[in-house]
Amino acid sequence: MSERSDTRGRIVDHLGGDYLRQALENDVRTGLTASPKWLPPKWFYDAAGSELFSRITRLAEYYPTRRELEILRRRAVDVAGLTRADTLVELGSGSSEKSVLLLDALANTGTLRAYTPVDVDAVTLEAAAQRLAVRYPGLDVRPVRADFERHLALLPRTGRRLVAFLGGTIGNFPPAAREVFLKELRAVSRPGDTLLLGTDLVKDRDRLVRAYDDPQGVTAAFNRNVLRVLNRELDAGFDPEAFEHVAVYDEDNEWIEMRLRATRPMTVPIRALGLTVTFAEGEQMRTEISAKFRRDGVIDELSRAGFAVCRWYTDGFGDFALTLAAVPEVTG
Ligand code: AVJ
Repeated sequence: MSERSDTRGRIVDHLGGDYLRQALENDVRTGLTASPKWLPPKWFYDAAGSELFSRITRLAEYYPTRRELEILRRRAVDVAGLTRADTLVELGSGSSEKSVLLLDALANTGTLRAYTPVDVDAVTLEAAAQRLAVRYPGLDVRPVRADFERHLALLPRTGRRLVAFLGGTIGNFPPAAREVFLKELRAVSRPGDTLLLGTDLVKDRDRLVRAYDDPQGVTAAFNRNVLRVLNRELDAGFDPEAFEHVAVYDEDNEWIEMRLRATRPMTVPIRALGLTVTFAEGEQMRTEISAKFRRDGVIDELSRAGFAVCRWYTDGFGDFALTLAAVPEVTG
């Protein structure tokens, strides 16, 4: 293996030492002692969870990935020309499958120098970084293991950056956290920097629910995986098979909610926390919200965070949107 394509050991890790552990402990203690109980979706994505998510993206029912790819295929060249970015920063990069479209377009525009994938899972990050370093020999690949809710200020601050936040992952934040996130991102950005934001759109309830409750049970396995993560990391005693996958669409909030429903009464030790949690039969614990958006709402939220929206791209079915926004040049 050539030196240049070897990214091993080059991951900048902001989740090392105690960090991840502390965050997980805090989240689990807070969420499992609340009523109703909840867990943040970021803990789905260990190596097994990332692989399950990857399988979700290939399901017929799960349209967002396919639609977003369709938009990117058609618009990446436009995005590259408008942004003229030299650095692509991708938040929640996962397998970096979509990044290739942006990287190709930026390379063809002649501006591309660096790529920073940001993810919580080191295995996924390593594999993606390795693959892209091979595919783009001159590219400066700088993977960062970080929690993009907490570490925005620690991301590379040099160059003319395009921050891609794809997949509709911003929909996992409750509205207040979304506002904080966008304002923080704006605060660490400079004039000339741009944001490409993927959002799933409001649509027919049945299609939404099917996308989050597939007949093969892949989403169910993904949902239950968070319990396996707790068992392994916190020496917890969950029986994942005793929890049923639930996906409901909340019309008022316009978001999908995933839950795990206890099929029998249970007492679950979380040994690393010295905590014991009880579930009543039928009790539901929220594991994810996935907000669905409308054009006006996206533009409004971005504007209020200080971004200037320059393009709104959708797929041919109007299922998904990519919004390109810029940090305005400072004026008089
Ligand atoms: C990767 C967060 C965008 O909310 O649609 C897929 C995760 N959850 N199926 C989404 C997910 C259930 C996905 N995001």
